[in-house]
Amino acid sequence: MFLSGALACFSAVGCDVGRDPYVYGGPAPQVLEVLAREAATAAPSALDPEGSSVVFSGSALRVRFDRYMDPQSMIRQSYCLQPDPAVVVGFEDCTQGVFTAPSYDPVTRTLSVHLDERLVAGNLYTLTLLAPREGTDFGFRAFDGVAFEANVSVSFTVAADVEPPEAVEGPAEAPDCADVAETIKTELSCLTCHVVDDETAPPAGLTLNREGLIAAIGRTAHGTSVGAAAHESQERPERFGSNMPLIDEKGSAGNSYLLYKLLAHEQALDGLADGETERLRASVVVGLPMPPPSEPARQFDSEGNPLPPREPASPEAMSLISRWISAGAPCAATD
Ligand code: HEC
Repeated sequence: MFLSGALACFSAVGCDVGRDPYVYGGPAPQVLEVLAREAATAAPSALDPEGSSVVFSGSALRVRFDRYMDPQSMIRQSYCLQPDPAVVVGFEDCTQGVFTAPSYDPVTRTLSVHLDERLVAGNLYTLTLLAPREGTDFGFRAFDGVAFEANVSVSFTVAADVEPPEAVEGPAEAPDCADVAETIKTELSCLTCHVVDDETAPPAGLTLNREGLIAAIGRTAHGTSVGAAAHESQERPERFGSNMPLIDEKGSAGNSYLLYKLLAHEQALDGLADGETERLRASVVVGLPMPPPSEPARQFDSEGNPLPPREPASPEAMSLISRWISAGAPCAATD
């Protein structure tokens, strides 16, 4: 790790010798695959990079990256989807662009490009994913600011129309805060610590029952405004992660610290770039990953019964929370 950091300093522009080499400046993010549905009822599958895939006209496109991405770059100006195989250099070339709505899930590091209208059957479409260029802010970046290196494009043909017409694929149906609270309580056991009891305040002032979740929407996480990294946020006010809300109130799962606390475990997440968890913990997540790994002395409850070891949250549980946040963190009234 140190060796490669030191070598990178020979060529990197503005290489900062005094700084820990891997805190900033991870590798350029890579696209792992682009997925779409072949039919309305099929599961999304990877598109052939050579352009031979046939895609259902209402299918959202999904782009999976190997790194955690800067949610501010997960916008429609970072890509172009159009029925024209001409080379797109920048967003200004996207003159026939289809209207789409992007969303980003940090758990699977996936950008979903939802369609506003169905694609035209029989046409060839090209999705071009843009690398940032001088003079524009558009294009993909990893959370530490490292840019996508070069544009990537993939073409596909739209399948013949099916009758009766199927709707276009929007975001998946959103869970409610009650579903999330239930998962957090029973599956993730977060309430063993994050509750109010008579003697102690909840850790970081955070309760994680339904009311606690509602209160966390739009509230800046302690870990992003105090502690080891706080001075860095003053030096680099644009730094990703400074003053991040626990749960973003505008529906950005990628700007929600609660998810990064869950993702900060060393765990085998499908396709995650080497060293990414280390980079996340070095520059974004302060303190422990959640739930905190068990300490040997604490593996018994107050009655002396053995407690199960605390496991990292499953990708399914994290995705449930992510989908809830992306939908705007809905909370139906309870009575
Ligand atoms: C063993 C007790 C314990 C358990 C179980 C636990 N936490 Fe924590 N949590 C803490 C402590 C202590 C802190 C404060 C120190 C830190 O941030 O590492 C904290 C901090 C946090 C923070 C940061 C809050 C902020 O404002 O910075 C989040 C988010 C969080 N926990 C979420 C969770 C979730 C979600 C779970 C369940 C998966 C969970 N915690 C399980 C003890 C716990």
